[in-house]
Amino acid sequence: MSNVELTDVQTLRERARQHVEQGAVTEGYHADRKEILRLLNESLATELVCVLRYKRHYFMASGIKASVAASEFLEHANQEAEHADKLAERIVQLGGEPDFNPDNLTRNSHAQYVAGSSLKEMVLEDLVAERIAIDSYREIIQYIGDKDPTTRRIFEDILAQEEEHADDMSDLLQGL
Ligand SMILES: [Fe+2]
Ligand SMILES: [Fe+2]
Repeated sequence: MSNVELTDVQTLRERARQHVEQGAVTEGYHADRKEILRLLNESLATELVCVLRYKRHYFMASGIKASVAASEFLEHANQEAEHADKLAERIVQLGGEPDFNPDNLTRNSHAQYVAGSSLKEMVLEDLVAERIAIDSYREIIQYIGDKDPTTRRIFEDILAQEEEHADDMSDLLQGL
C-alpha cells in the first residue's frame, strides 16, 4: 500500500464532470482565485508599462546613436510583451479578464514609467524597474507556494528573465 494520499480515480472522474463551465479551474484548485487574478493583472500592468518605457528608450537611444543600448532596449521591450501575453493567457484560463485599459495601467503597475532624458538616466530607470519587478514577482511566487503550480511556474520563468534584464542594464550602466 502506498503512503502517498492521492484522490482515487473514481472521485477524480466525478469531480471533473462537475462545473465543466469553469474550464481549467477544477475543484482541486486551492488558491484564492480572486487574489491570484488581482496579482496577475497587476503584473500584466507592470509588463505593459515596461514595454512602453523600453520602447520610448529604444527610439530615444536610436536618435542619439547609442546602438548597443538601443538593441538591448528593443529586445527587452519584446520580451516584456511576451511576459504580458503569458500573464493575460493565464488570467483567461483562470476565468478572469485581462485589464488592458490604459487608464488603469500606471495605477496597477508595480514599476514606473520614467521617460528619462539622458542615456544614463534611461538605463538607470530600467534597472530600477527590473529590480521592482524582481522583488514583486519573488513575493508573488512565495505567496502562491504550492497552491497553483502553473501560475507559479509562469512567474518563475518571468522572474528568471527579469533577473537577466537587470543584469544587462547593470552591465550597460557600468559602461556609461
Ligand atoms: Fe517582464
Ligand atoms: Fe524585464
